Amino acid sequence: MKYNNIKRTNLLQTAALLERAAESGNTKWRQLFHIMPKTGWLNDPNGLCRFNGEYHIFFQYSPFDTKPGTNFWGHYKTKDFISYEYLPPALCCDQNFDCHGVYSGSTLIDEGKMYLYYTGNVKQLGDFDYITKGREHNLILAVSEDGLSFNDKALLMKNSDYPSDCTCHVRDPKVFKRKGKYYMVLGSRTTADTGEVLVYVSDNKTDWKLVNRLRTAEKFGYMWECPDLFFLDGKEILAFSPQGIEPEGFKYNNVYQSGYALLQGGFTSPNCSVGEFEELDRGFDFYAPQSFEAEDGRRIMMGWLGLPDLESYYENPSNKFGWAHCLTILRELSLRGNKLIQKPLKEYEKLREKELSVENQESVWALEALISYNSPVKAEISIHGDCKIIYENSVLTLSFGKSGYGRKSRSVRLQSLEEIRIFCDSSSVEIFVNGGEEVFTSRFYPENYSGIKPRENYEALKIWQLKGFEYI
Ligand code: FRU
Repeated sequence: MKYNNIKRTNLLQTAALLERAAESGNTKWRQLFHIMPKTGWLNDPNGLCRFNGEYHIFFQYSPFDTKPGTNFWGHYKTKDFISYEYLPPALCCDQNFDCHGVYSGSTLIDEGKMYLYYTGNVKQLGDFDYITKGREHNLILAVSEDGLSFNDKALLMKNSDYPSDCTCHVRDPKVFKRKGKYYMVLGSRTTADTGEVLVYVSDNKTDWKLVNRLRTAEKFGYMWECPDLFFLDGKEILAFSPQGIEPEGFKYNNVYQSGYALLQGGFTSPNCSVGEFEELDRGFDFYAPQSFEAEDGRRIMMGWLGLPDLESYYENPSNKFGWAHCLTILRELSLRGNKLIQKPLKEYEKLREKELSVENQESVWALEALISYNSPVKAEISIHGDCKIIYENSVLTLSFGKSGYGRKSRSVRLQSLEEIRIFCDSSSVEIFVNGGEEVFTSRFYPENYSGIKPRENYEALKIWQLKGFEYI
């Protein structure tokens, strides 16, 4: 089916006008080295891929408001993860089958083309619960020859094509090629209110056949969003974002979770079992991560530095300036035993502009700190006076005062403290512990920037002022 060109042109022109207006606006709390749109709302990263020597980063983008609504796919590309080109939205809601949102999805690069798979969201008008009735989640494919124009959209599957015991919530296709076949995982909510992942196979990228359903032995939440299936050291890893999990001590404290489980038995086998779920992040703001493979074989992941449905928990005060949210920095993944390790991309070392002393950080917004420890009993770091990282009784805690806008504290049990690496932008902090064994990702909105100050028991310390990303 061809694009509805008039609708598309109108939507894109309005978005461009808003973006231009935003350029002259208030820059308070805008991030220097995190991907964000010029205006409006951002959520999940989508379609991360390498195509013709460049990396493409798409994201859920609603230019008309600071809440999700008219979700497009916003678009950046980069060669080096340091300088970025901002492009017009790649996909917008211009068809009947995606009129209430071009929802999350992925890209497959194959035979010189870029294939974008996503969920077309439709909310029918009427008195519906929008879970078992009233919502359409369509599987759509758009193909691009050049990674810049996305001309055709094809409807590949609709709700009646998914298993009959699934609710209307079946979305977020992640497609990949393996041993000559194409596979797709889709997140789903069953009519028994359990979350699971549907696994499909295809020979031709358009006709898909269900081969498996990945679920835990015991119910684990009512919906699994944004599944991602990838391979590291010969192991199969399923990342997903489950909803409906109750807090358990330090675990599962956010409104929704994101994490991973190792698969045993092969993802297409009916005997495949989903191992223990492990959270990817211990902070307040991390969701819907997606991974891709870099040219040199590295598996790289990035998430949304935010969460849906936060309003009753904490705030994002940038809303009053007409924008909300950004993506996390990119993290290289590896396995230590069965545990996923996340390390900031080594390319970010190029952001280091100059080394600073502890006393000399006044009014610097973009900072990196590397602090080494030798298994202390206690340690403390303060960031801009209002954010605290405290290690005590084998527990590491991140907490905020006023700058957290409702974010109080999050903790993880940690046997021993060896290293803390902090990436701080104008309104976010990402903390990599013991070489990426644990990560805390969070927004916070400081009024003053006094710097990163370790208080006790550290062995070595380096602090850098970072450059922002370059936009071309
Ligand atoms: C996750 C999510 C996805 C959906 C998208 C819509 O944050 O809810 O499941 O495709 O956001 O923007």
